[in-house]
Amino acid sequence: MKNENNSTKPPERVRHDYPGKLIVIEGTDGVGRSTQAELLKNWLAVEGFGVTVTGWKSSILISTVIEKAKSKNALNTITFSLLYATDLADRLNNIIVPALKAGLMVICDRYYYTAFARDVVRGADPQWVRKLYGFAVEPDLVFYLKMPLDPLLRRIITTRGSLDFYESGRDIGMSTDLYQSFKLYQSQIMFEYEQMMTEFPFVVVSADETPDKIQHNLRQHVGKILDRESKSEAMLML
Ligand SMILES: Nc1ncnc2c1ncn2[C@@H]1O[C@H](COP(=O)(O)OP(=O)(O)OP(=O)(O)O)[C@@H](O)[C@H]1O
Ligand SMILES: [Mg+2]
Repeated sequence: MKNENNSTKPPERVRHDYPGKLIVIEGTDGVGRSTQAELLKNWLAVEGFGVTVTGWKSSILISTVIEKAKSKNALNTITFSLLYATDLADRLNNIIVPALKAGLMVICDRYYYTAFARDVVRGADPQWVRKLYGFAVEPDLVFYLKMPLDPLLRRIITTRGSLDFYESGRDIGMSTDLYQSFKLYQSQIMFEYEQMMTEFPFVVVSADETPDKIQHNLRQHVGKILDRESKSEAMLML
């Protein structure tokens, strides 16, 4: 699936001018995104903002289809990309954009950057994936939770007790050794995120810290976009 047209320029992203704010938390599997999303949601709610959190592969329309296809190992590079893109398209339509229009703070636990990393590691053309997600609004703030591979592995094995088939890239035959496969797959994912750090305005946050310290860092950045515009508008709605 090589990019046959001559354009190497990434597509223009869709900027939104809704009263709400779109905050994205990105990072590899098990890095602590959901923990931080929850803490951020609680803080924003206490500060008086309406908040909604939405996770990757959570659309009612498509998530069970993805799960079923994954359990049968029935996805190829393109169908994998298209199903996940449909998941985000559905959530944008039904959750994210309505919430932004209503002036809410929307926290996305993963956004199209996850696809830009995963789909490319699964063989998709980087420009093709970026164009595929051309329908999605640009976030106001993107955190990339970054953590070295070895402590990440220790955290995942300690907290979950095992490694996941897909999170280890076993479906694309990286290695028959699950541990080795996880390392190979996740290091390629991390490489793609590193590349994106120059392409997109990621706020890079060290995830190899206590949850409180990471959260403190996140709040400092979120505070800046609240002070500028959102807070007054969202507060007026209460
Ligand atoms: N900063 C941290 N230090 C130590 N442990 C943490 C930290 N943040 C989260 N954890 C723990 O690590 C595990 C994974 O955290 P969490 O579920 O937030 O990660 P995630 O990135 O959402 O994972 P997934 O990719 O599975 O959705 C949990 O058991 C959580 O309590
Ligand atoms: Mg999670």
